[in-house]
Amino acid sequence: MNVPDIIIAIDGYSSTGKSTFAKLISQAFGFLYLDSGALYRGVTFFALENGMIEGTDRIDLGRLIPALETLDIHFEEGSKTFLGKRCIEDRIRTLEVSSSVSPIAAVPEVRAYVDRRLREFGERGRIVMDGRDIGTTVFPNAQLKIFMVADDQVRAQRRYDEMVAKGETPDFQEVLDNLKERDRIDSTREVSPLRQAEDAFVLDNSDMTLHEEVVWIRGLIQGRFDIRETRWLWVWPLR
Ligand code: CDP
Repeated sequence: MNVPDIIIAIDGYSSTGKSTFAKLISQAFGFLYLDSGALYRGVTFFALENGMIEGTDRIDLGRLIPALETLDIHFEEGSKTFLGKRCIEDRIRTLEVSSSVSPIAAVPEVRAYVDRRLREFGERGRIVMDGRDIGTTVFPNAQLKIFMVADDQVRAQRRYDEMVAKGETPDFQEVLDNLKERDRIDSTREVSPLRQAEDAFVLDNSDMTLHEEVVWIRGLIQGRFDIRETRWLWVWPLR
């Protein structure tokens, strides 16, 4: 399918499968995938490693904010997160980072840092980006916006299974509590709270397979951009 050079914004609650879906879209249509949450997680990892967070949410802003000026968090090898030369992809997905990321993401200076980075990527077009405020704040003019939701228990189970698959031994209740707490903080913060953009299409994937999600987005893109499938031409016998 010949998809135009658009920006696709995918927002939604924690662990609704945004990144899996966004990665599939990027593969299916040859788009660049960008995980905005990874940048917030990267800042959180940096702050934790440098002793700038006490408990889960007491942040030493006096040290963190100036450090943002030279903080080098970027993507390499496809969509792996790097801090300088170090790959931190696995280290940003721990429950420790998850427990402090929402308070960090509520800091206006941190949001400005991440937004700046994301907009640099956006200039290239043909990207699919997932997060909480992509369709509302980062790219309000994105040509296609999707808002993902799913049942709490289903979301927690997915995240739990993901952690077990990585060899961790999470506690299901702790995983569920973390999702709900992040949703609460993300939806109620003052700067760019998590909310559905007015022109976003809602995708509830509680009972959907990945294949069904891809069929759904193909139909949506075809209808919205008036794209006719031309693939049948290629199987026409050539004489
Ligand atoms: O993958 P998951 O849904 O668990 O979260 P994520 O996309 O990795 O994002 C981690 C956290 O970063 C979220 O809980 C938000 O606090 C924050 N975030 C944000 O505030 N704005 C974004 N555009 C993306 C993430």
